[in-house]
Amino acid sequence: MIAALSNASVHMKDRNRVENVLQAMQKAGSNTMQVISDFDMTLTRFEHKGKRSPTCHNILEDSKLVTDECRVQLKELMNKFYPIEIDSSRSVEEKLPLMVEWWTTAHKLLVQQKIKKDLLAAVVRESNAMLREDYRPFFDLLEQHSVPLLIFSAGIGDILEEVIRQAGVFHTNVQVFSNYMDFDETGTLTAFKGELIHTYNKREGALLNTGHFQELRTRPNVLLLGDSLGDLTMADGVHDLCNILKVGFLNDKMEERMESYLNSYDIVLLKDETLEVPNAILHFLMGPQ
Ligand code: TMP
Ligand code: MG
Repeated sequence: MIAALSNASVHMKDRNRVENVLQAMQKAGSNTMQVISDFDMTLTRFEHKGKRSPTCHNILEDSKLVTDECRVQLKELMNKFYPIEIDSSRSVEEKLPLMVEWWTTAHKLLVQQKIKKDLLAAVVRESNAMLREDYRPFFDLLEQHSVPLLIFSAGIGDILEEVIRQAGVFHTNVQVFSNYMDFDETGTLTAFKGELIHTYNKREGALLNTGHFQELRTRPNVLLLGDSLGDLTMADGVHDLCNILKVGFLNDKMEERMESYLNSYDIVLLKDETLEVPNAILHFLMGPQ
């Protein structure tokens, strides 16, 4: 049906279900569809040439906008909490308070740095931020077919927007839910706005944004892209959900996490740094222009 689904990176527990959902979504048409995607390690790469690619937080952490001391502290937090974030032997309940601790401590450290808004663009330009291979057809195709793309990220909205703006793909069909920085009148970071979004509370984040999903109520068919099991709840705010196809990137700790990914994502992409499979799915669903 879709040649890319035979790629070596593609794993599925139930190929029949995938084919049925794809057929139902194709029949319903692209005007009934919306795409909801995570950002860090889903739209961006996990690694490149053997080196880990930065998350939104890492972009700031590795920049000259933070002191060496702050950088060390942020890295220590990452070393402590990232293994917990991806630990398949711990429950989400157990992880929740720890994720809140990671994000609140990291954001507090960033606020102490008095980061200037007008320096963010240069920091992103000088960073190693990298969207996945074949990102351009992904964004362009959705725009051409007027399919809304929601980027739902526990990263930092201001940084994320700058990454896609500089890549030339922050098209008008793109909306972002994320943690946004709050600046004072001198353009200095003073806080983060609104409710915190971390890896495992995206359901709550989705339910807070009823207006967005209300506007998209004529689009009950969803393509969801994520890399964490926390990303599976990003579509929980969708009205009268009809069909959903969940595509998950399994980037790290592959062996111990494969089973849980196969049980929750329809398609698991193992160590795949490209958007080739999502693009092939979009081509199938949207047909020729
Ligand atoms: P995502 O929802 O777009 O994937 O963004 C969340 C990622 O951000 C998550 O996987 C962990 C990462 N992160 C850091 O790299 N450094 C930090 O200090 C924090 C709080 C999160
Ligand atoms: Mg992610």
